[in-house]
Amino acid sequence: MNILRIDASARAADQDNESYRSISRLMADHFFKTVDEKGIEYTLTHRDVGKHPPAIINEFWIESCFTREDKRGYSHKQALMESDRLIDEVDQADLIVLSTPMYNYGMPAALKAWFDQVIRVNKTFDFDPARGDSPLAPLMGGKNLIVLWSCGEYGFREGESKAHMNHLTPHIRTASRYLGVEEMIEIQVEGQEFGDPRHQQSKSDAIEAIEQLIPRIFCPGRSTCRCHPGPGNSERLKAPDRSPPAPTSGPGEHDYARATPSPRKTLSIQWARQRP
Ligand SMILES: Cc1cc2nc3c(=O)[nH]c(=O)nc-3n(C[C@H](O)[C@H](O)[C@H](O)COP(=O)(O)O)c2cc1C
Repeated sequence: MNILRIDASARAADQDNESYRSISRLMADHFFKTVDEKGIEYTLTHRDVGKHPPAIINEFWIESCFTREDKRGYSHKQALMESDRLIDEVDQADLIVLSTPMYNYGMPAALKAWFDQVIRVNKTFDFDPARGDSPLAPLMGGKNLIVLWSCGEYGFREGESKAHMNHLTPHIRTASRYLGVEEMIEIQVEGQEFGDPRHQQSKSDAIEAIEQLIPRIFCPGRSTCRCHPGPGNSERLKAPDRSPPAPTSGPGEHDYARATPSPRKTLSIQWARQRP
């Protein structure tokens, strides 16, 4: 399995002062430590947008995108080089593990810069007016996305008081559809700014959730890793189908506003709920 890890926090995970450490990065570290302990085989590409933010797209970048490939000059190609490289990383990935903070109720600017670089016409989606008012369709498919996120406050989960203020994971869900993501799973730590027992509980719940998630992701048949001994090994993993999802019920399925995977999939694995 090819995994693309993306970290978006501006904070590091190895600060001397424990309370300054990035929680979202620590969640991703725990994910990979657990995967390694289970002897699961994978190849990893690591893109740290928190430490090395991608360039913000500009007018010339847009012009370059919309210039036909065979008409692009040297400077157009230069302008798209970073985007090409980042898209290649996404293209190779079967699974994307994204760790991110919530900043100002949405995604960090560095992560938005990454999305702007990788969602590109005729590379990751195409535009066909024959599809009516919903002309966009993803060109890649078959990818899973795990979002490990941390926030300072409480109450962003569905049905809670600030659910409507969570512009982080709904945005990621909508945008990632155009990178071929068909299932998104989120695990959250909340209450970092409070540092109270609820926050501690949220951290332990997230750790437990990560550990329970791994067998479901890597060995759904329970025969592909050392945590579930069996006759098989990594070749038994389902071969990723990189083709884009089959067109569904026509217009309405592929526009930015509506093209989201079934919310039920995420809800069933939205682990880090407060315990009574
Ligand atoms: C610039 C900035 C903006 C933030 N905005 C929010 C916010 O809108 N809502 C919230 O609950 N927490 C907010 N926080 C708190 C962070 O989400 C929280 O500290 C989180 O743990 C950061 O992730 P990290 O620990 O991986 O760095 C903000 C923090 C910073 C630094």
